[in-house]
Amino acid sequence: RDIKGIILAAGKGTRLYPLTKVLSKQLMPVYDKPMIYYPLTTLMNCGIKEILIICNPNHLCDFKNLLGNGKQWGIEIQYKCQPSPDGIAQAFLLGKDFLEDKNVVLILGDNLFYGNNFEKILKAANEEKNGATLFAYPVSDPSRYGIINFDEETNKVLDIVEKPLTPMSNYAVTGLYFYDNKVINYAERLTPSKRNELEITDINKTYLDASNLNVQILGTGIAWLDTGTFDSLQEAGTFIRTLERRQGLKIGSPEEAAWRNKFISDNDLIKLAKEISKSSYGSYLINLIKQKTPKLD
Ligand code: G1P
Repeated sequence: RDIKGIILAAGKGTRLYPLTKVLSKQLMPVYDKPMIYYPLTTLMNCGIKEILIICNPNHLCDFKNLLGNGKQWGIEIQYKCQPSPDGIAQAFLLGKDFLEDKNVVLILGDNLFYGNNFEKILKAANEEKNGATLFAYPVSDPSRYGIINFDEETNKVLDIVEKPLTPMSNYAVTGLYFYDNKVINYAERLTPSKRNELEITDINKTYLDASNLNVQILGTGIAWLDTGTFDSLQEAGTFIRTLERRQGLKIGSPEEAAWRNKFISDNDLIKLAKEISKSSYGSYLINLIKQKTPKLD
């Protein structure tokens, strides 16, 4: 295997206080699952089996209690603490020993992706062995994100600006990033920004300057959901609930992803389902085997 995954689930979640005073933001419920299940499932659907979770030291026990070493889902989960919120790009310094000489997919622990053909898009990005691949997504509030400035005629990326006061476009960089192993070296050379963080945008600009940046635009068939405020957290839950209840399917289930990707057997899935048999989540997992539901994109 030549690619590993990192989920950054640190930070203090201060915008969600008092909800996050004791619990990690990335463990908040998004309808029927803890938030981190969604990005974890995204990585598993990329075929990634070695995953590092970076969290705030206060929450390490909670994450370990919830996810363990990953063996139950046929994957390997390791943990590392980020003592203070010094920026997304610090993930590569904290993850240096874990990554060794491998490429990496970084996903922010509060990023939810869902949509048509999304897995195919992921697998295609995974095929790229050199450089960086980012995803751009139109948003109504561009000042809150890293924003891509495109050349109007050629669609070439001209610049990326972190939280611009006067955005040049409404295309935000999502919290899902594919990088080759050079990212560690680039992160080592970064200096903190004005807000005193090692910025992921500076990493992306380094790839842009080296003509090694690939940006894919995600269209209307894909949902990229935000969970940063009370309302967006509630709306993300409602979105998941609406789809799940209508279709009788689950979004962001690591058990299902493990089983469909053949990381675990039918019997392993039955065992996992039995542990939570009083929850409708358990019956859902049992039914997957009974009905042999075909996988939908
Ligand atoms: C971070 C990045 C930003 C990116 C966003 C995606 O923002 O700095 O470039 O667009 O994640 O969620 P932050 O979480 O620091 O506000």
